[in-house]
Amino acid sequence: IPVDPFDFIIFGGTGDLSERKLLPALYYRQRDHQFSEPTRIIGTSRTKMTDDDFRAFAKKAIESHVAAADIDAKELEIFLARLSYVPADATNGTGFDALKKAIGDSKAIRAFYMAVSPSLFGSISDQLKQHKLITPTSRIVVEKPIGRDLASAKALNDLVGDDFDESQIFRIDHYLGKETVQNLMALRFANALYEPLWNSAHIDHVQITVAETVGLEDRVTYYDKAGALRDMVQNHMLQLLCLVAMEVPSSMDADAVRDEKLKVLRALKRINGTEAPKQTVRGQYRAGASAGGPVKGYVEELGAESNTETFVAIKAEIANWRWAGVPFYLRTGKRLASRVSEIVIEFKPIPHSIFNGDNAGPIFANQLVIRLQPNEGVKQYIMIKDPGPGGMRLRQISLDMSFAQQFRGRAPDAYERLIMDVIRGNQTLFMRRDEVEAAWKWIDPIQNAWENARQDAQGYTAGTWGPSASIALIERDGRTWHESN
Ligand code: BG6
Repeated sequence: IPVDPFDFIIFGGTGDLSERKLLPALYYRQRDHQFSEPTRIIGTSRTKMTDDDFRAFAKKAIESHVAAADIDAKELEIFLARLSYVPADATNGTGFDALKKAIGDSKAIRAFYMAVSPSLFGSISDQLKQHKLITPTSRIVVEKPIGRDLASAKALNDLVGDDFDESQIFRIDHYLGKETVQNLMALRFANALYEPLWNSAHIDHVQITVAETVGLEDRVTYYDKAGALRDMVQNHMLQLLCLVAMEVPSSMDADAVRDEKLKVLRALKRINGTEAPKQTVRGQYRAGASAGGPVKGYVEELGAESNTETFVAIKAEIANWRWAGVPFYLRTGKRLASRVSEIVIEFKPIPHSIFNGDNAGPIFANQLVIRLQPNEGVKQYIMIKDPGPGGMRLRQISLDMSFAQQFRGRAPDAYERLIMDVIRGNQTLFMRRDEVEAAWKWIDPIQNAWENARQDAQGYTAGTWGPSASIALIERDGRTWHESN
């Protein structure tokens, strides 16, 4: 269904996010006929360039990031004709008059996308206000990092909040736009099967893994100041944890869902200086092998000494009736053995086996594995009788639901869904201010504990599953990390 006409203004229009994600996502929505007339896309950044230069930039971006088979020459032409460009500098306000002129007195929905460093969010939103560019149907989209701790997140939220109402602010966590992440809600709330079991009486523990094989990439300055806890845990990992742990919201209404997520964040048990050594592991990759070739260690890649973590494992606990005594083991890292994101729900073992003495073999606890990427799908591990003679021998098998096999066709990128939600004004998949701040409230004590204890990141060889301490973290509790395949 086409959305209402809109003006999409990209600050940082010639940057990396615009090139890799935003322009390709917008092109796909054009190709799928979701735009109505007159929809316009205006790029802006400090670089001087003409409309045609920007169109050439966008064409190249689409050709490099969209599968050739998906490029429809006619749709691409219509798409490029929607583009224009205005150079502007928020630090001194130059170009904002020209931007106002370019937008004109259009009554269409306006989306201002901040694909720039957070240090510019405040000045851009102030310039928009000063130039009277903010209409009642305007929205502002902000990308992470939203701060580096609670205080800086509050300051940033205040800056944007001075100019825009909370209902106009769309804080992106692109994990929420992933098809499989939304599927988590479908799995939990469109099936009667799981919900009665979804609690501490039946679930032993939960594992959330977001493993990457990439290293530092080109993000030296940002990443070395952030580290894996701020880069991945504060946002993506905690959002996943919330979707697994939240109570059933009364509807898919944005605030109904976000209220439930907020309650989970607030119920997370604080990890401070006493708990941190037992419940957290921080690691940094050393030279090793990845993707079939040798790779440098983090410090060599960075070209400077650093104690920044590229790996984190945490044993998190939620202090409420549903989850008391059910640990949530989280782990994420760069340069790990494979790229895999998944959530494992391990149910409790059966209370008593009737198969003893019959050569039955071990009885494994049931697991529900939700694979977020790649090879998206859901597997339910169960025990069955091994077919054939030989008595009641038991075997674990998995009931497999692979998205690729079940559904043909391309899975849309997270940004396609999220951009359209911005235009529709649907905030369900965006983070509310209080959520972001509650997440930092839990992260800050961990970060402080590490800093106060001067806890060095433990080395791990690139291409492995992280420091051995992360294996010990879960094995101490008599459990093991699920082996992905
Ligand atoms: C980003 C992080 O938010 O997510 C990156 O800043 C990380 O460090 C990326 O690589 C992972 O996203 P995806 O979609 O590739 O899993």
